[in-house]
Amino acid sequence: MKSLVVYSSLTGNTKMVGEAIAEVLAPECDIFPVEDNPDYSDYDLVVVGYWVDKGTADKKASAYLKSIKNSKVAVFATLGAEPETEHAQKSLQNGIDMLDSSNELMGKFICQGKIDPKLLEVMRKMFGTKVSKENFHAVDEKRLERHRRASTHPDAQDLANAKAVFAQIKAAMELNKNGRNE
Ligand SMILES: Cc1cc2nc3c(=O)[nH]c(=O)nc-3n(C[C@H](O)[C@H](O)[C@H](O)COP(=O)(O)O)c2cc1C
Repeated sequence: MKSLVVYSSLTGNTKMVGEAIAEVLAPECDIFPVEDNPDYSDYDLVVVGYWVDKGTADKKASAYLKSIKNSKVAVFATLGAEPETEHAQKSLQNGIDMLDSSNELMGKFICQGKIDPKLLEVMRKMFGTKVSKENFHAVDEKRLERHRRASTHPDAQDLANAKAVFAQIKAAMELNKNGRNE
């Protein structure tokens, strides 16, 4: 089974998860940054990973996701928020929803990724420290705490979780293929 992993990553979190996934899908697996715009057409499984930008897939990954047709696809993402939150689940679904209906979704995964401290500084300068309905991007203690919780991710457990999800996808696809060949 030939797999392709394509990741979009600004600060390395999504790349790290993509590399863990590629380990599981090896030996017949290629991995590329989205900037390389790899041709997906020769692969049995196309895996696309993105960093969450304002609740959805970042621009580069969005363009790649939308370009895929007639393929078996799995999607993963990293984001600052906890993966169990509604925001995280919506951010993953928004990426999946970009896929053309000619594709088949084989699986999905999302985990937390540390947030660049530079972003926090920019937000503090732009929005201050007092949160209100109109100013929900302000950097208050709650936001600082969220950043602290994200700062250790992706951790060993996240990578193990990602590997487990993709090991299952691989096993299911190989079983299916062998079944058809009999
Ligand atoms: C411009 C910008 C927007 C972001 N928007 C969100 C967001 O809407 N929700 C969230 O939970 N994290 C958000 N994040 C945090 C990133 O998704 C998170 O840190 C991710 O793991 C970064 O991945 P990377 O290291 O592969 O670039 C944002 C980060 C940046 C820089």
